[in-house]
Amino acid sequence: MPDLFSPLRLGDVELANRVIMAPMTRDRAGPHDEPTELMVEYYRQRASAGLIVTEGTQPSPAGKGYWRTPGIHSPEQIAGWAKVARAVHDRGGRIAMQLMHVGRASVRANKAPDAETVAPSAIACPDPIPGPDGVPVPTELPRALRTDEIPLVIADYVSAARNARAAGIDAVELHCASGYLPMQFLSSNSNVRDDQWGGSVAGRIRFVVEVLTAIAAAIGAGRTGFRICPGVTYNGMADADPAETYRALLRALDPLGLAWCHLIHVPNAGFDSLELVRANWSGPIIENCGLTRDKAQALIAAGTVDAASFGYAYIANPDLVERFRNGLDLAKADRSTFYTGHGDDARGYTDYKDHA
Ligand SMILES: Cc1cc2nc3c(=O)[nH]c(=O)nc-3n(C[C@H](O)[C@H](O)[C@H](O)COP(=O)(O)O)c2cc1C
Repeated sequence: MPDLFSPLRLGDVELANRVIMAPMTRDRAGPHDEPTELMVEYYRQRASAGLIVTEGTQPSPAGKGYWRTPGIHSPEQIAGWAKVARAVHDRGGRIAMQLMHVGRASVRANKAPDAETVAPSAIACPDPIPGPDGVPVPTELPRALRTDEIPLVIADYVSAARNARAAGIDAVELHCASGYLPMQFLSSNSNVRDDQWGGSVAGRIRFVVEVLTAIAAAIGAGRTGFRICPGVTYNGMADADPAETYRALLRALDPLGLAWCHLIHVPNAGFDSLELVRANWSGPIIENCGLTRDKAQALIAAGTVDAASFGYAYIANPDLVERFRNGLDLAKADRSTFYTGHGDDARGYTDYKDHA
């Protein structure tokens, strides 16, 4: 019977255990959105995870929406990520990069002056987003992407995935959750397009299917995963029928042979998203959200999911695998230092210690 500490193969990536570090934006990239030495140390400290999924990383300048998030579209950024990958590999770990294009969930002051805010439709994100000083401000009204521009956005994702591989990163995860660009295409209230990229369910799922197909063709399906959160309303998402949308999406993705589906599993009215994934997706499942060691063990032992990811717990417990293995107490994370916005701010970032 497998448990959290059993090895696992996700596509082409061999994991030493099934404890996965969930992607977490920490706002500590350098002035050119490049990973810093401090980021290298942060990921190095957490390399005993079976797999690290990095913080959301923008594939292009237009994909940025938050302050001091890293990119993977310039030589300096690729060089920085290569140091991160090497540090994790040197400790025997594995690392996947989360590709995150925020679409309309963006504040102008957080990104380059010539970077546009684009989305499927010209409908603003209703939720404010923190600006450079951490104070939430209204988002910008996006410009609706023209039909002929959508292949260019897909090409940016492909180029980012190739850059990640060139940096030595093992795999990529497409961020299709939390109200960012892919989810803006999926959701009926943020995608009111009347071309082939919108309208019916088949139109709204097309962007995600095409992006993942293109990334898989470029770097291999076995190195391509995706993250979803069916029914979540974060960043103004309100799909008329999320169960129908995600059933169609998962059925379309299933034949691609992708490496994993990473589910943010939250309670929904009318359907259970884990049941929905299990019924429509035959590949590996990473379960996330509010898990404890014991809950994760039970799900893996029962064969309900293949692996479990942990967010908050990984902030304050760099040696989470060892703490779980030995039944040790977990340290608590300090929320005030989640996003400090300074590339050299080690507080609440690299100063959490391994257990004594
Ligand atoms: C500080 C912080 C930053 C986060 N940034 C991201 C992100 O960049 N991409 C993403 O998909 N989820 C992000 N999340 C969500 C986490 O990956 C995870 O889904 C959430 O924390 C729930 O898991 P947990 O209960 O184990 O913490 C973030 C969460 C936190 C606490």
